[in-house]
Parts: sequence; structure tokens; C-alpha cells
Amino acid sequence: MDSLPHEFAQPLDRRMPELSPLAARVIWHAETGSTNADAAALAESGAPEGVIVVADLQTAGRGRLGRSWSSPPGVGIYASVLLRPGANVARLLSLAAGVAIAEAIEDVTGLRPALKWPNDVYLDGGGAHPPRKVAGILAEAGGSGAEAWVVVGFGINVLPAPHSPELTRATSIEADLGRAVDRGELFAACVARLAARYTDLKRGRRTSVLDAWRARAGSTVGRRVEWSEGTGVRSGVVSGIDDDGGLLVATDGGTARIVSGEVRWS
Ligand code: BTN
Repeated sequence: MDSLPHEFAQPLDRRMPELSPLAARVIWHAETGSTNADAAALAESGAPEGVIVVADLQTAGRGRLGRSWSSPPGVGIYASVLLRPGANVARLLSLAAGVAIAEAIEDVTGLRPALKWPNDVYLDGGGAHPPRKVAGILAEAGGSGAEAWVVVGFGINVLPAPHSPELTRATSIEADLGRAVDRGELFAACVARLAARYTDLKRGRRTSVLDAWRARAGSTVGRRVEWSEGTGVRSGVVSGIDDDGGLLVATDGGTARIVSGEVRWS
């Protein structure tokens, strides 16, 4: 473990009152395999809720659905938060995390990120190009009973990566914004917004989270999507999300409710 660089430590210190119940301990790695794997190992060894692992470089960054997450040094934020929520809170956690990261990006940049179900964060490029993904969230759960845990990992492309394999589908905040962004300020904003949205869920304010999610998903409602189911591919038109965070899609055979996986815009 290395000591937290000034760039990250200072904004966190300044915003400390807003970060509870998160960030009592923040572990920095100049290089690690995956911050989600690190946080999961801490969870298994009994670490308390709120611990955060953040790295400058991941050599085995994990994405959703078994994909990898490209994590070169100096250009992104790669962080994982250890939580120990009850079952009721856990259900909307991954949506709430998407809302929080979008809100933090907006706080720091003035850009207005959109959400694609369940929690991909997109920037629309001011209409100059189709919406491109700027951040992703991977929530992983383990343990049981009083030892149950959820690790919420988030990756944000802050600067353009030198050799991004996904140049046409991904973007970075600085590429869209056209000016430099302070990674430490953005990281502290993410933690503050995650703490606030997590507190919403714990206090039963689910509607606030769902409404915030819906307000950022307006451009995806009414869009045709397709998704894999069993060995086939189904398609329909997005009508919204229900109160448990499932995606509702109008199909020829009625409304389909999607609770896991992903949909592709078609
Ligand atoms: C996605 O596929 O959209 C989710 C990407 C999540 C990436 C982050 S980076 C920090 C944390 N550690 C990981 O290994 N993955 C998540």
C-alpha cells in the first residue's frame, strides 16, 4: 500500500463532513490488479463498511459481464467502495451508484451525463457524435447474513487514453469538455455523492434515487433495444424502469422486465 497522493488527499480532507459513512479509510495503490478484487478480499477479512480502495493503474480491471476494464495510469479514476447494506438497500445500489457518479461528473464539470440501464454513464458530445460511455460501475456481492457485503467499483475515463481499444464507443471527460479536470476533486465528488445516495437508500428514500435515475435516462426511453435471452435475441422499445430497478421493454408479446445483463441500442 502507498500513501494517498496529495492530489486525492486534499479534496477528500476538505469534504470530509460530507463523506460519512464512507471513506473512514482510503487505501491507495499506485498499481494493483483490480480494486474490486482488493475490496472483496478486505470484505472477506472482516473490514468495516466504508473502506475505499483506489488505484492509479489496474492490470486486471474488471468490467461487467466478464469483460475487462482498460485502466492505464494517470488518465482515469479506478475505485471500489466496500458496503454492508441490508437486502432492501442492496437491490437499488447499483442504480444509485450510476446516479451518484453522473451527479459527481456534473458537479465538477457542468456536463450532464446520461444513464443507460443499469448504470453505464454516457456523454452526448453536444450532438457532435452519438452518446459515448465515459464511466462504468461494477457491483459485486458476497458473504451472507451479518457478513454480507457489496463492493461498488467505478471506473471513469478522465483523460483520453493513449490507445483506447474502444475509441468509437468510449469517450473521456476531458475530450468532451475541452479542458483539464482535477482527478482528486472529481474523486472526492464521487465519494460525496455515493455517500448521499447510499444514505437515501438506507433511509428509505428509494423514490428520490429512482426519480434521479429516470431524469437522466430520458433519451433512452422510447429507443429500440435488443438483448440476449437463452439462445435467442429479443427486441422491443424501452418504456422505463420499475420501482425495483428492472428495465421495462414493450415487445410484440407484451412488456418484458429485464433484471440482469444488458441491452444494446439497435
Ligand atoms: C463496466 O463494465 O461498465 C464496469 C466497469 C467497472 C470498472 C471499475 S474500475 C474500478 C473497479 N475495479 C475493477 O476491477 N472494476 C471496477
